[in-house]
Amino acid sequence: MSDQDLVIRDLHVAPAAKPDHEILKGIDLTVVKGEVHAIMGPNGSGKTTLAYALMGHPAYVIKSGEVLWHGHNLLKLSADKRARLGMFLAFQYPMAIPGLSVASFLRSAINARRSGLNPDPTIDPTDAFKGGIPMGEFRKLVKEKMALLKMDESIAARYVNEGFSGGEKKRLEMLQMAVLQPEMAILDETDSGLDIDALRIVAEGVNAMLNPNMGVLVITHYQRLLNYITPDRVHVLAAGRIVASGGKDLALRLEAEGYAPILAEAGLEGVVTDDEEPVAVEAAH
Ligand SMILES: Nc1ncnc2c1ncn2[C@@H]1O[C@H](COP(=O)(O)OP(=O)(O)O)[C@@H](O)[C@H]1O
Ligand SMILES: [Mg+2]
Repeated sequence: MSDQDLVIRDLHVAPAAKPDHEILKGIDLTVVKGEVHAIMGPNGSGKTTLAYALMGHPAYVIKSGEVLWHGHNLLKLSADKRARLGMFLAFQYPMAIPGLSVASFLRSAINARRSGLNPDPTIDPTDAFKGGIPMGEFRKLVKEKMALLKMDESIAARYVNEGFSGGEKKRLEMLQMAVLQPEMAILDETDSGLDIDALRIVAEGVNAMLNPNMGVLVITHYQRLLNYITPDRVHVLAAGRIVASGGKDLALRLEAEGYAPILAEAGLEGVVTDDEEPVAVEAAH
């Protein structure tokens, strides 16, 4: 184990609104630097809760456990600091931010990321002459990554996610990932709401971003995304625990058999169903 790995130990998490009701009931998971892990699970199994807990979403409380990353106990840091440490979450349900253009948003995020965990007071990331990304370099970077994701450049001038289609929202999440170059990327159901062509473009974009310095947690209900992004490990999350882990063959088995047999093997027969319609869970309420 190196401090470059993401290490999750016995993580228990509850919603802040119902702190006695644990959603995650002891997650143990290590993502070695540069590895791609898939987390699959039925709706309501706690996948998004895990993603939010790792990023520090205020709607969730950590009941116990620890998460180690780059020599820090991540759980003690603000969401902002986690992002500065190279953690990135692509949201399942990206929010609109009326009034903030995509370009301004990306530029501020890049500058925050570049200024590091403990920003140097002599550096002003909003100023290109004092450490901020120069405008020319920024434009070139965004243009290049938009081309990778086959995005229309006019999106840069629009407000973040305002009036975006489902596919555009997911691509904007991937654009953020591409420009921020995280070391740990969590993709929460990035495949949902994408038709097959958009899925392929997004998956190819992610593949082009993969590098030995970036670990990835691909959260997905379906195995189809894993036809494009090959995971090193696949984990099945059900009823707040990882009930099975394996290689890509585990994802293929889930596709062939559905979740029921694996859940039954884990003693969860009848506790979890795998045929629910996807439900949008708003974390904020
Ligand atoms: N903020 C919250 N408040 C109350 N219940 C929540 C909250 N977030 C999630 N839950 C509940 O926890 C369970 C797991 O949700 P979630 O992590 O979104 O699952 P998944 O992403 O696997 O579909 C669901 O039963 C959901 O209703
Ligand atoms: Mg979810």
